[in-house]
Amino acid sequence: MSKNIALITGVTGQDGSYLSEFLLAKGYEVHGIIRRSSVDFRERIAHLEGTPNFHLHYADMGDSMSLVKLVGKVQPTEIYNLAAQSHVQVSFDAPEFTADVDAVGVLRVLEAVRTNHLEKTCKIYQASTSELYGKVEEVPQNEKTPFHPYSPYAVAKLYGFWIIKEYREAYNMFCCSGILFNHESERRGETFVTRKITLAAARIAQGKQDCLYLGNLDSLRDWGYAKDYVECMWLILQHNKPEDFVIATGVQHSVREFTDLAFKHAGITLKFEGEGLNENGICVAVENPANQALVGKTLVCVSEDFYRPTDVVNLWGDPTKAKNELGWNPQTTTFEQLVELMVRHDMAKVAADAEAAKVRTNLAEYLEKGIVK
Ligand code: NAP
Ligand code: GDD
Repeated sequence: MSKNIALITGVTGQDGSYLSEFLLAKGYEVHGIIRRSSVDFRERIAHLEGTPNFHLHYADMGDSMSLVKLVGKVQPTEIYNLAAQSHVQVSFDAPEFTADVDAVGVLRVLEAVRTNHLEKTCKIYQASTSELYGKVEEVPQNEKTPFHPYSPYAVAKLYGFWIIKEYREAYNMFCCSGILFNHESERRGETFVTRKITLAAARIAQGKQDCLYLGNLDSLRDWGYAKDYVECMWLILQHNKPEDFVIATGVQHSVREFTDLAFKHAGITLKFEGEGLNENGICVAVENPANQALVGKTLVCVSEDFYRPTDVVNLWGDPTKAKNELGWNPQTTTFEQLVELMVRHDMAKVAADAEAAKVRTNLAEYLEKGIVK
């Protein structure tokens, strides 16, 4: 049997790191694309670097030649195109870069496969998104729901979705989109709302932060666990024909509900009062007696800074097709379990960071006093 060789763009990201682990465990040879950065530490994949079957290569989604050369060298049997400027709010600040990487970048990957004459042997997974539904035209959303992108990010991803479909029909290539709804984890970037909340809850519970500032608390999302979702990326490429799939849990919650539950897991009970920009989350009870001084304090505030020029507020996915045709279980990790595991992780991280800071402070003091030379 020929060897399974995967090429992952976006290998350093949340999904790329879980997908690498998943494919390595299945015996794949895994190749990932990295960009040159002034910092050489790749936190999410550091534990994989140096292991057999895991290889990293410099390339960039904005550089066709680097992609053509790499695809020719690696000869992948599967490409997972996960690389993107993936932050919706940032796409309003850097729309052209977002379009280049998230839209034209997809075309570059497809053309790299064609240039190397791998159309018949290399399957391609495209990281599409529930943001395509944007200003939603129906709830819940499924594969037949019309798209209405509502940010520069979503408009760029819409091009990616259609160019994948076009190459599938025009050149008979096995290329598919996973229309993934929001998925989170302990490895989620710290400026996405869930991770921002779990880290802040942990910091506030440990006296490292006073208040958490958020934007639209009414926004609704269908949040799943990233580790469960990477399995679907693989399943989509193992399906007997190339098709697009909605991947979601089928359960919807608001940013306010996520916040409330995250603080509860950090030992803080909140009560929300007021509306819009004047809404506040006030501490009404604490588990840890050492945190008694927090009771009565405003720990969550709303700030205009985190509102978007246009916001997607009602995402709710219908994963029936993935369940029936891929045999995937959308409820492997529930919303409650997801929030708990993220908070547990961040409580430990904040405590460990505090310990490390103490060691650094002690060292600075010892150096100053000449105790350490
Ligand atoms: P992420 O953590 O932000 O990772 C993005 C990855 O893309 C990083 O590895 C990043 O590299 C890489 N990248 C960005 N620009 C690049 C460029 N010019 N050339 C090469 N690599 C580049 O995102 P994620 O949450 O894992 O999401 C993975 C994909 O799924 C993205 O395409 C995202 O848009 C899509 N998606 C995500 C979700 C979700 O809820 N997470 C839902 C639907 C779709 P650096 O580390 O060097 O920055
Ligand atoms: N980031 C952020 N920060 N979002 C906030 C905040 C805040 O302080 N306060 C409220 N929100 C609201 C946003 O307005 C949005 O409606 C919702 O929380 C979720 O925001 P994000 O966590 O930034 O994620 P996203 O839904 O915009 O985008 C993520 O999911 C998409 C799939 O639907 C990203 O991972 C995209 O790459 C992905 O395609």
